[in-house]
Amino acid sequence: MLDPGKLRGDFPALSLTFHGKSLVYLDNAATTQKPYPVIRAVKEFYEKKYANVGRGIYDLALAATNAYEEARRVVAGFIGARPEELIFTSNTTNSINLAAYSLLASGLLDRGKNIVTSLMEHHSNLLPWYRVAAASGAELRLAGVDGKGRLLMDELEKMVDENTAVVAVSHVSNVTGVVNPVAEICRVAHEKGALCLVDGAQSVPHLPVRVGEIGADFLAFSGHKMMGPMGIGGLYVRSDVLEKLAPPFVGGGTVRDVEINGDVEPLWTKPPHRFEAGTPNVAGAVGLAEAVRYLSRVGPGNVEAHEKKLVEALLEGLRDLNAVIYGPEDPDERSGIVTFNLRGMAPHDLAALLSDEAIAVRSGLFCAAPLMKKLGGESGAVRASFYLYNTVEEVERLLEVLGKVEGMMNF
Ligand code: ALA
Repeated sequence: MLDPGKLRGDFPALSLTFHGKSLVYLDNAATTQKPYPVIRAVKEFYEKKYANVGRGIYDLALAATNAYEEARRVVAGFIGARPEELIFTSNTTNSINLAAYSLLASGLLDRGKNIVTSLMEHHSNLLPWYRVAAASGAELRLAGVDGKGRLLMDELEKMVDENTAVVAVSHVSNVTGVVNPVAEICRVAHEKGALCLVDGAQSVPHLPVRVGEIGADFLAFSGHKMMGPMGIGGLYVRSDVLEKLAPPFVGGGTVRDVEINGDVEPLWTKPPHRFEAGTPNVAGAVGLAEAVRYLSRVGPGNVEAHEKKLVEALLEGLRDLNAVIYGPEDPDERSGIVTFNLRGMAPHDLAALLSDEAIAVRSGLFCAAPLMKKLGGESGAVRASFYLYNTVEEVERLLEVLGKVEGMMNF
């Protein structure tokens, strides 16, 4: 089992204090803190290996290129992919936009086609599909959720037909922590000949995710939500799908040669480089690979089990308060995210009171306005989201402050 006490010393930010109290960092669905090995790997890259990649033939450029491609091997291996199936992007949003615009650029979306996604998506897995649907004339279909934010599988299944180009769903909701049956969803998509994109922003950092087991054609994720640097993310695309896709963004790195014979004739590089236009974030990739090594040592299954314990403790404590909890009551249906309100208190006010106690949570609509509205949280809520370094004591400290706030309100 995971012992957060043994890991916490690796994370310098966790020793910070605010208002004379030590930081309780519970905003991990937004971004995670960084351990020393990641910080050191980025520093070392800049000190000892820094040059552009895939261009120069001098030793330093080769060292940078090797570091970048080694990072790709490590990160791809973590999700059970081959290196050539992993495109480095800047984050999940960028990955999903890249997937959507690649389908558009490849002529796979048109007036007769439809795209199926759902009401539980954060904006990053909704707006790119809305834009490419509008640009192509394809129909955008949104499967609903029940009152607890669970995806209505029957509805989704009925929406997928022979004209569905792609089904795009999140693996884990960033609002409720609900875990979707993504292997089943991809099976439904494939049965009708559609592609399947899984938004792994909130799953890849928190539970074991293997692309082969899910059967996804695309898997999008961010580095900064899994202890890596900001500005680096990944888009896995299954090799047979990737071979058929045209890159929507082109330039240096995406071509081997360009002929001008009356027209511009590019000779594209092979994937994944065909999809990485311009100088990539090499330091970010190196840092992400180090984060993945760290996560692999801890074990994604242990992270999942540990977060479940924290969710159980928080849900149990919230039941004793006058709180509204968004999402299923059963911790087994959730990953490490709990979104709630204290009745009679505005969420930003509560988050500000918690901040005075050095407790960091996110408040608002969580970039998922349609879902929050559907769940009756249109005025926003407060979200506590966990990671491998959080402790039961931190949950108790949160509950203690919530209890005090409630006491003040009743006074
Ligand atoms: N999607 C991130 C969150 O849920 C930013 O906070």
